Amino acid sequence: MSKGIRSVQPEAAGLEIVWETGERASYPWLWLRDHATDPQSYDSRSGQRELYTAGLDPAIHGLAARLGAGGRTVEIDWPDGPQSVAYDAGFLWRFRSPAPATGQDDRRRPWDQAKIAEAPIELAYAEVAADDAGLRRLLETVEAWGFAVLTQTPAELASVAALAGKIGYVRETIFGGLWEFEANEARADSAYTPKTLRPHTDATYSHDAPGLQILLCLAYQAEGGDSLLVDGLEIGRRLAAAQPDEYATLGRIAIPGRYLGDGAHLAAERPVFRLGRDGRILQVSFNNYDRAPFRLPEPEMTALYRAIAAFDRLANDPALCWCRGLRPGDLLIFDNWRVLHGRTAFTGSRRMAGCYVNREDYESRLRILRDGA
Ligand SMILES: [Fe+2]
Repeated sequence: MSKGIRSVQPEAAGLEIVWETGERASYPWLWLRDHATDPQSYDSRSGQRELYTAGLDPAIHGLAARLGAGGRTVEIDWPDGPQSVAYDAGFLWRFRSPAPATGQDDRRRPWDQAKIAEAPIELAYAEVAADDAGLRRLLETVEAWGFAVLTQTPAELASVAALAGKIGYVRETIFGGLWEFEANEARADSAYTPKTLRPHTDATYSHDAPGLQILLCLAYQAEGGDSLLVDGLEIGRRLAAAQPDEYATLGRIAIPGRYLGDGAHLAAERPVFRLGRDGRILQVSFNNYDRAPFRLPEPEMTALYRAIAAFDRLANDPALCWCRGLRPGDLLIFDNWRVLHGRTAFTGSRRMAGCYVNREDYESRLRILRDGA
């Protein structure tokens, strides 16, 4: 909740505000001018800045400042044009102290096997498909836990398309958009074999790894083939506490990923833990299958191998693993920027459908559902 403002005082460096709580805040003049919302500086329909910021005098100083609307706005007169620009108290309250751009509330809940066993990660497909409230419950579940399971999903490709369409749109890749497959040795990628797949994230070879993956079981006449998930945030949390050097190495050294096959040669690189300016983990990328050949000078190479081993031991620790055999109608949706996925070996026939959705589109849908357009 924003607060009311008791008083404003122009100073040399910026505007001093005393809130009705007694709290004080100072705003640099250049920052205030850059955030003016008068029609010459700002397009209120699009929320886009019209101002040519580079053309401002870096030493700009407000001519006068006063309270408006009973302490709900501050009006500032500027020397370069706009007179009496109103700044909403809620806006000023939000920025009363500087914070990194990523410093929002963290709603993510790291989990291990014991914790996830108690977590409400299961929803019925019909509930999610019914309305925005159901979709919001799904996306907030994915936000909190990194994944969700939808049950009683119509076992057809159209269900995947419908869900992806509610969140954003189907991400096209070299594998296509919507896909449906059985175990098939013809494809180059390890994902298409019946062998064990150790926990990994997809597309470490992509500069923009898919944000969500949707997997729907269409048919199952097999032994094994259980889906495994491991929370990359929990791995990070444990490493940071118990093996800080390894954690730092994985946040620092960019590891190249590569995909060779199907007429493509994709390559990208980033650290296992991509961190925000506030130190928070923004993205986990780990795929030992797709790591490209590369060599670092010593002692970096040895340190990296040690860190990879520490990470992968946790990724393969049963105490961190969520495991479930998907059966026809079970749909798994997970955050590929956070949760590692894998699969136990199987014999027989297992037919799956799925697709990717971009990270930004998933985030956008969740913001719209939560806060409105
Ligand atoms: Fe995968």
